[in-house]
Amino acid sequence: MCGIVGYVGDQPALEVVMQGLRRLEYRGYDSAGVAVLSPDGQLVRERKAGKLANLDKLVSATPMPGTLAIGHTRWATHGAPTDANAHPHLDCTNEVAVVHNGTIENYEVLVDGLERRGHVRRSETDTEVVAHLVEERFSAGPTAGDLPATVRSICRDLEGSFVLVISHRSEPDLVVAARRNLPLVVGLGEGENFVGSDVTAFIAHTRRARAVDQDQVVEVRRGGVRITDLDGVEVAGESYHVDWDTAAAEKGGYDFFMLKEIDEQPQAVRDTLGGRLREDGLLHLDELSMSDEDVRGIEQVFIVACGSSYHSGLLGKYAIERWCRLPVQVEMASEFRYRDPVLGRNTLVIAISQSGETADTLEAVRHARGQKAWVLAVTNTLGSTISRESDAALYTRAGPEVAVASTKAVIAQITAMYVVGLYLAQVRGTRDADEVRSHMRDLSELPDLIAEVLTRMEPVRALARELKDSPRVLFLGRHVGYPIALEGALKLKELAYVSAEGFPAGEIKHGPIALIEPGTPVVVIAPRHALQAKLINNVQEVRARGARTIVIATDGDDSVTPYADVVLRIPDTKSLLTPLLTILPLQVLSAEFARALGLDVDQPRNLAKSVTVE
Ligand code: G6P
Repeated sequence: MCGIVGYVGDQPALEVVMQGLRRLEYRGYDSAGVAVLSPDGQLVRERKAGKLANLDKLVSATPMPGTLAIGHTRWATHGAPTDANAHPHLDCTNEVAVVHNGTIENYEVLVDGLERRGHVRRSETDTEVVAHLVEERFSAGPTAGDLPATVRSICRDLEGSFVLVISHRSEPDLVVAARRNLPLVVGLGEGENFVGSDVTAFIAHTRRARAVDQDQVVEVRRGGVRITDLDGVEVAGESYHVDWDTAAAEKGGYDFFMLKEIDEQPQAVRDTLGGRLREDGLLHLDELSMSDEDVRGIEQVFIVACGSSYHSGLLGKYAIERWCRLPVQVEMASEFRYRDPVLGRNTLVIAISQSGETADTLEAVRHARGQKAWVLAVTNTLGSTISRESDAALYTRAGPEVAVASTKAVIAQITAMYVVGLYLAQVRGTRDADEVRSHMRDLSELPDLIAEVLTRMEPVRALARELKDSPRVLFLGRHVGYPIALEGALKLKELAYVSAEGFPAGEIKHGPIALIEPGTPVVVIAPRHALQAKLINNVQEVRARGARTIVIATDGDDSVTPYADVVLRIPDTKSLLTPLLTILPLQVLSAEFARALGLDVDQPRNLAKSVTVE
């Protein structure tokens, strides 16, 4: 949560930082701000509550020349989203500017000390303490005059998680950044360098990046970047090439990123499958980094994730249990470690996270590794904290996802979970080679089928416009349709602020059916598969109580049509793979529903894409 950018180079820094913030706005959009070091050595700061557009308006009316700047887009934790709490925060003398992502847990103790020593606090944030601490320790004492050493000494005294980016008016060629637990990436340019919460912050300028590890401090100068640990010892590290291009981070003619990302799903699945097939049609998954013997020794699997990624995990359970006959438990990461789950050396823990930064998932990974389990991260973000702290990482290749509500990343996660399931089955011998090949062939056909479904979305859009005033929508499914019902409901809640719930269809008689009133829309995920007859009974039950039934059904299957007010069709595929198709109309339904209500599809209220606080 919160996006941060820092730049030092020869370009007008305000523009570089504002462009970076535009790309990072998905991380939080309660307020935004920038500080530019002007040619006469003043830190000029502007900040504004609300979305970045408010700041944009403000800075376009204010000349802010300078080639060094830091910027921030906020998701409020300490202090309401007001102008005064917006970052950057300054010290008492306006010589230090600080932006911060994270929470400083011991800030109250630090504030007490600072106030006793005469500092005046001008915001309710935890961040501001850092500006005052820099003011003190840069002006006197063992770190006087040395900004990197000052920051290192302050980091030692901070508890919690943070990424800090700091500029001092007496340092016209230096931005200092530090990280603990939260993401920070360095962008390496020619005569200019960058720091950002992720690579999209600087991708318009350079594709060369370097990761920053836990408790490291980065000195960013025009001529180069130096990274040290908290003792000031320089650490070695390799740069890497980012193969996302700028176009991938732009709307490309769509009104919203989410609509573009929905359309990118055939490619997301294709890319996630790509390169994982051997010539003989079987799978190789070197990323798992486990010997065949260890794979055969796995006794249980836990899948941990949050939000939509949790729903991908539920589908992973169906696949792994079916193909590998291994017990699988899927846990919301926020609950996992507090339950003290029974893990051990023969436990495989799969942590699914698009961002690779979700705080609860990261803590679950740490807990699992502490219990000696083997942890595989399934993530979309190269170099993310979760991928680096896991034993192995399997990358989904969905490309950058900007809309807060996840679409293409989810479909890529589901694909990746199926690949993991088939690979485990192949190595453990629970499915023979022909069967693995045949499932892989079916999976390889999915990108075309997804593309086809996406051409059929006009009736879904029309339906969303028609339903837009419904105060409540229910989603029902059985078997693999159940996680999709959960995902459909989550999407609608997130985007349209409508009360939406997903249920296993068999459970409705145990309570949810009481919610049904005449006209209540009930979306039923009912592609052709073994449990369809039971689902048809459930459709009849809700319809008999006045529900308006919207049924997702397989092409040519008319068994559901007598009970459906609206039928949405998908092509036929194997039952386990149907989620990759049934999810599509639900994504479009929620996006269009929100659009019809005049809401911001990409940035729903109160949410952030990357939840880096517990
Ligand atoms: C937030 C996002 C969701 C996402 C969840 C988990 O709630 O809004 O779209 O599914 O975090 O994020 P992760 O990056 O761990 O997959």
